[in-house]
Amino acid sequence: MSVETMQAIRVHAYGGPEQLALAQIPCPQPQAGELLIRVHAAGILPMDCYVRQGRMAAMMPKSFPYIPGTAFAGVIEALGTDVTTFQKGQAICGRSPQGTYAEYTTVLADASAPAPDSVSYRQAAAISPLALMPATLSFDEAATLSGGATTAWTALFEDGGLQAGQRVLVHAAAGGVGAFAVQFAKWKGAQVIATASAANLDFVRSLGAETVIDYAATRFEEVARDLDLVLDTIGGATLRRSMQVVKRGGTLVSVLEPPSAALAQELGIRAIKNAVLPTSAHLQSIIRLIDMGHARPTIRRIFALDQAAQAHALCETGHGRGRIVLHIAG
Ligand SMILES: NC(=O)c1ccc[n+]([C@@H]2O[C@H](COP(=O)([O-])OP(=O)(O)OC[C@H]3O[C@@H](n4cnc5c(N)ncnc54)[C@H](OP(=O)(O)O)[C@@H]3O)[C@@H](O)[C@H]2O)c1
Repeated sequence: MSVETMQAIRVHAYGGPEQLALAQIPCPQPQAGELLIRVHAAGILPMDCYVRQGRMAAMMPKSFPYIPGTAFAGVIEALGTDVTTFQKGQAICGRSPQGTYAEYTTVLADASAPAPDSVSYRQAAAISPLALMPATLSFDEAATLSGGATTAWTALFEDGGLQAGQRVLVHAAAGGVGAFAVQFAKWKGAQVIATASAANLDFVRSLGAETVIDYAATRFEEVARDLDLVLDTIGGATLRRSMQVVKRGGTLVSVLEPPSAALAQELGIRAIKNAVLPTSAHLQSIIRLIDMGHARPTIRRIFALDQAAQAHALCETGHGRGRIVLHIAG
């Protein structure tokens, strides 16, 4: 028997967190090639807030009402026709472009990523890396992987080409991306320098960073120089200052904005906006690492589905440790 209605958060107009409204709406039905997922948990990404605020409207226009969220963990409730890669009842996690602040979402079972040189925001928005749930994580924890672990992985290893023995600076190392980046870089055998606020210094050290800089008390340039790689998740002045601490021939990857090509040339460094989109293979590599004990997610706070507005308000502060999660079922 198919489920007819579901609870979901919907946004009817760009604006503040108050635009996130709970509704009882028809449950989506899986089309050919799609999975119907019973969502157990959804990760709250800063991008979800930017989209709701209308900041992404030019690049990723939304038709209203829409269901926010992309990161999820849940169980396959039903299969559309032509699905051969997954089975009903399997627990999976990853990304759904159809909205995940809902009891159900649908996702293409096999949406492969476009080539890095052709990436646009629209293409990035359409991808759906998926993987079977990690054996060692709860649904709430697994909902933190898409947009956090996947971004850290592709930015460090695909865009950044990080190698063992190299020195890397990870900004915002207590955040949803940074906390994974520190652990992945450490696993790779890199020497990790990181920035965080005073409250998070010990936490970031516990993730494997050798040096953690309190960004409010110390200019990071005083401690971090001649780096092989910088991962920037802050942008603006932090991005420009970060370019100065990369050694000649080194790399800066910003997940926020394209760095100045002129400054990069002047400094003799490679500086790029991250461009490699996460695939299911990346997510599966991350999950293997997690299940081997090399990395763990950090949950900042768990909210119920009907508390999505409070969750967004907290996310918008731009501070805190780990990822905010909506616990939806189970
Ligand atoms: N392009 C992409 O593919 C992509 C993917 C994912 C994320 N992003 C972007 O990357 C950014 C970070 O994402 P996130 O998920 O990690 O965010 P998040 O979980 O909200 O974390 C933000 C972190 O930033 C830290 N922070 C704030 N100001 C800082 C500063 N001046 N220096 C160092 N750290 C600072 C905070 O640490 P304290 O609490 O210690 O201050 C907090 O831990 C967001 O803007 C997001 O949209 C881009």
